[in-house]
Amino acid sequence: MGHSLIFMPECHSTNDEASRLLDSNTQVMEGTVVITNAQTSGRGQRGSTWVSEPGKNLTFSLLIKPTFLAVLDQFYLNMTFSLGLADYLNNALTSDIRIKWPNDIIVNDKKVCGILIENHVQGQNIQHSIVGIGLNVNQTNFSVPHATSMKLQKDHEFALENVLPELLSFLETRYLQLRSGNLEELINDYLTIFYWKGERHMFKKADEIFEGEITGIDPFGKLKINVDGTTEYFEVKQIQFLK
Ligand code: BTN
Repeated sequence: MGHSLIFMPECHSTNDEASRLLDSNTQVMEGTVVITNAQTSGRGQRGSTWVSEPGKNLTFSLLIKPTFLAVLDQFYLNMTFSLGLADYLNNALTSDIRIKWPNDIIVNDKKVCGILIENHVQGQNIQHSIVGIGLNVNQTNFSVPHATSMKLQKDHEFALENVLPELLSFLETRYLQLRSGNLEELINDYLTIFYWKGERHMFKKADEIFEGEITGIDPFGKLKINVDGTTEYFEVKQIQFLK
């Protein structure tokens, strides 16, 4: 991963640039990275925006071709890349890293990284995926209270040119694990560091606030919450974590 690297000083969104590259009919190597210093219209999950101070963080997209993966199994990509990030951060920060469903990376109850995976499907299989990663590295001021960065956690700067190759090597290890079909271990590792698992918390669905306990995910990646003794299943857009 990262042997082919396309750097743009500024762009709207690296996911959009990666998508354009794939549409352009040029041969794109698996593992190609599209990276920028300044993203002007960064996109997040659920139609949100991703704001990142220019030059301080990593904002990039990784192009992969998981043609071995059935569309129905696409949630494995969330597990694979969130685990790769968690592995890297665990090593770099030596802190307790958690994955908040489906793929936010949390350290000390704050979000340090977001992932936006966009799949291109052909028939029953995935043709290619764009894995967009926004990792807060050296930014120290955020407009939202629940955001953090590696620097805020460790009290020192990180060299972005070192963070990228190290992170890519952790991502590659997990991707190879997925490709080898070692899925049980992926699920186990994912659920081992699952944020709020086995604890009672408040959630919100539409206008309804309720208390429940996360018990895991179903085979399609839906979140399972035990609410008053009954297991309920949630899609990404349906539920908000409150407190
Ligand atoms: C989220 O947590 O909502 C996902 C955020 C993903 C942000 C990254 S930054 C690089 C790539 N390009 C985008 O437009 N978004 C992703």
